[in-house]
Amino acid sequence: MKKLFIIANWKSYKTTQEANEWMQHLAESGLHQMPDKVAIVCAPYTLLPLLKAYAAEVVMPVSFGSQDVSPFGEGAYTGEITAGEIKEFADYTIIGHSERRKYFKEDDELLTNKVARALESGLTPVYCVQDENTMIPEGVTLVAYEPIFAIGSGTPDSPENAEKVIKTIKEKNPKVESVLYGGSVKPENIHTFTQSPSIDGALIGGASLDAQKFMQLVENS
Ligand code: PGA
Repeated sequence: MKKLFIIANWKSYKTTQEANEWMQHLAESGLHQMPDKVAIVCAPYTLLPLLKAYAAEVVMPVSFGSQDVSPFGEGAYTGEITAGEIKEFADYTIIGHSERRKYFKEDDELLTNKVARALESGLTPVYCVQDENTMIPEGVTLVAYEPIFAIGSGTPDSPENAEKVIKTIKEKNPKVESVLYGGSVKPENIHTFTQSPSIDGALIGGASLDAQKFMQLVENS
């Protein structure tokens, strides 16, 4: 049985109170440990300490990640959060999301440095690519294929095309172990992707903000 990664990307949403309520809802609905599924919440930096403390106290099968990481180590880099700092609270980091590439002009060289810093500190990068031709830096094992037209649009890629692209990504990058699909994934359509032989899970934005929907995404995958 393949291992599925179900990853929430909260983007720039949620106060501490909203994050607490989300976790409480998840705890009450009884998300159980599932040997074949890994649930990960990639939250704003400000929420990671709180989320980690909550999950430890209530014992929930959820891991955490950031949505970005500094390309530098510690030093005089005002405003940056290093991989080492993130590692205190999380095990994963999204790198190269198309919103970072678009709004913050992140390019292959910068993203390669981010991957290197993440790996040095023991964070697993969730490396986002928009198609099968996007460069994937050395050391990346977990990738998310997210076609730009599908992000936040309500119009996902077809499961057939996602399967085709993801299969090609794996063929071109033999060291990549898992490739997820992302873009307008909902509880109603997640299974059409995760049942495809090459697709190893989903990266979910909008639908993951609702705890009930996140539960359903994990259950239906
Ligand atoms: P979406 O976002 O699920 O809201 O389309 C996905 C993403 O940006 O990772």
